[in-house]
Amino acid sequence: MQIARTIAEITALRKHLTGNVGFVPTMGYLHQGHLALVRQARAENPTVIVSIYVNPSQVNRKEDLAGYPRDLDRDLELLREAQADIVFVPSDAEMSPPGFSTWIEVEGLTRQLEGASRPGHFRGVATIVAGLFNIVRPSRAYFGGKDAQQVLVIRRMVDDLSMDVEIVAVPTVREGDGLAMSSRNVRLSPEERRAATVLFRALTLARELRDNGQTDAGEVRRRMTQLIEEEPLAQIDYVSIADAATLEELSAIDRPALASLAVWIGGTRLIDNMPLQ
Ligand code: PAF
Repeated sequence: MQIARTIAEITALRKHLTGNVGFVPTMGYLHQGHLALVRQARAENPTVIVSIYVNPSQVNRKEDLAGYPRDLDRDLELLREAQADIVFVPSDAEMSPPGFSTWIEVEGLTRQLEGASRPGHFRGVATIVAGLFNIVRPSRAYFGGKDAQQVLVIRRMVDDLSMDVEIVAVPTVREGDGLAMSSRNVRLSPEERRAATVLFRALTLARELRDNGQTDAGEVRRRMTQLIEEEPLAQIDYVSIADAATLEELSAIDRPALASLAVWIGGTRLIDNMPLQ
């Protein structure tokens, strides 16, 4: 496995590659969810490149950036085991040198949900992902389904700007009790970790209601909200039943829909989602 720390280094390595390149962009502190992306990229491409870069422009609060968990040695070990070929670990100076002033703004899809709660987040994501795509020039790029809105935003950007890369969404990997894998889970105390299952329980309830014929989206939101409010450590940011393609809130579940939520568990904000067919 080769490690590139500069754009010049990765460009030199990329020049010698033939065939498809699978790319997994990450912010590090890898867990089984990331490794599922690497495994799928490994199965579908002769070369796999992973990036590790904690992107300051998508993190809203300075405390979040300072407290973002990092363990590069462990990440590299996990990527070696998962048989990544190249890991790109750029610095801030490399990704946004002095004078950097170009931003990508995906409109519409970024107004609601994570976009509403975290102003500027998707501008940071879209800009860094576009930059990484230009540097790595992947054939396919792999993203976790837990960040469903991110996947839609990146697909929109790729289509709108005619970027020659296939976006692959990989289903969310969950702990045994349903909690979606996330780098943030390490911040939960044992008591909070137990409470955090409320996200999966609320999503499962939404799916059960829909499967049993409930099409009133307001009623599904109400039942999910009620369940979460029964958990004393949980504080709701949003509960959404939206059109799966546009993320516009629905009043009737009469088309493919996405149940999604963001919930604070103590001081940790968790997100999750589940498609409702
Ligand atoms: O999903 C993430 O980890 C980040 O948003 C990404 C895609 C690596 C961009 O920084």
